[in-house]
Amino acid sequence: MPSIDLTGKAAVVTGSGRGLGLAYAHALAAHGASVVVNDIDEAVAEQAVKSITEAGGRAVAEVVPVGTTEAADRLVSRAVEEFGRLDVLVTNAGILRDRVLWKMTDDDFDAVITTHLKGTFTCARAAAVRMREQGEGGSLILVGSPAGQRGNFGQTNYAAAKAGIAAMARTWSMELGRAGITVNAIVPVAATAMTETIPAFAPYAEAMRNGEPLPDFLRKGEGFGTPEDCAALVPFLASEAARGITGQAIGIGGDKVALWSHPQEISAAYADGGWTPETLADAFPTSVGAELQTVGIPAPKFPEA
Ligand SMILES: NC(=O)c1ccc[n+]([C@@H]2O[C@H](COP(=O)([O-])OP(=O)(O)OC[C@H]3O[C@@H](n4cnc5c(N)ncnc54)[C@H](O)[C@@H]3O)[C@@H](O)[C@H]2O)c1
Repeated sequence: MPSIDLTGKAAVVTGSGRGLGLAYAHALAAHGASVVVNDIDEAVAEQAVKSITEAGGRAVAEVVPVGTTEAADRLVSRAVEEFGRLDVLVTNAGILRDRVLWKMTDDDFDAVITTHLKGTFTCARAAAVRMREQGEGGSLILVGSPAGQRGNFGQTNYAAAKAGIAAMARTWSMELGRAGITVNAIVPVAATAMTETIPAFAPYAEAMRNGEPLPDFLRKGEGFGTPEDCAALVPFLASEAARGITGQAIGIGGDKVALWSHPQEISAAYADGGWTPETLADAFPTSVGAELQTVGIPAPKFPEA
């Protein structure tokens, strides 16, 4: 078994006061990395630093809302001031403002895009500048979502942001390859404050809080478990063992790890001299339209009662 040793490396994890980000920060610190914990909630950020320190790790808190260049610069500077360098960035901070399209306000849209998409862009840009200066490579670990991969009812803003994040991971993996900086999007699924509101999972989240084990159909079938279940992927992607892995979207949750495909053409048809609306109407249903793609996140498959 290869050992995962991040001793001497410094990481920034955005939104790491609670939920998945907290689990990522703990996992990085447990494998030797020094961590800048970031959140907008000062109390949870300080508590996170305390719990990491008590567990024998090294961490400091930087309380600032990601989404601006100033916030990104503060996070990278803090890592450099405290730990002398930056090797790993996890862009995890996020919020939800779910509404169907016709009820979604500009504020709902902007808040989610600013935190997730612009937060990821600004933090990754600041980190890339620093990592390129250091000249020793690095790991950008972005956070996608099944909603961004597949679309999800009521999540215009969130699906757009997460699809954009997966697209940025592909683009940056090309741009940063020569600098030895890997860029991947992880696609986690876990019981957190964010998913507690999903009615199908609510009773299981409650059971988990009471320390009861989750059934196999959830841990394996749905790939659903605790934030700690997702956290293993982060130190792995930050380590030497994952140097060759870049530009990927990797699902993690419960007992499951999965590789997502990237969009690609799956069928094609040709008309000499180009298509007209009429020839498309004639040929589409029996050629490229013969098997249209499904959308949405498949509903959970509950075992028969
Ligand atoms: N929970 C899941 O199953 C799931 C699934 C797919 C993707 N994700 C993604 O994982 C990430 C973490 O989700 P979670 O479920 O742990 O959520 P959470 O709500 O439990 O935690 C998110 C944290 O981010 C912080 N935050 C919010 N806005 C911020 C900002 N502008 N700057 C800094 N911190 C900010 C919050 O205060 C909170 O502590 C998000 O990007 C989310 O979209 C979660």
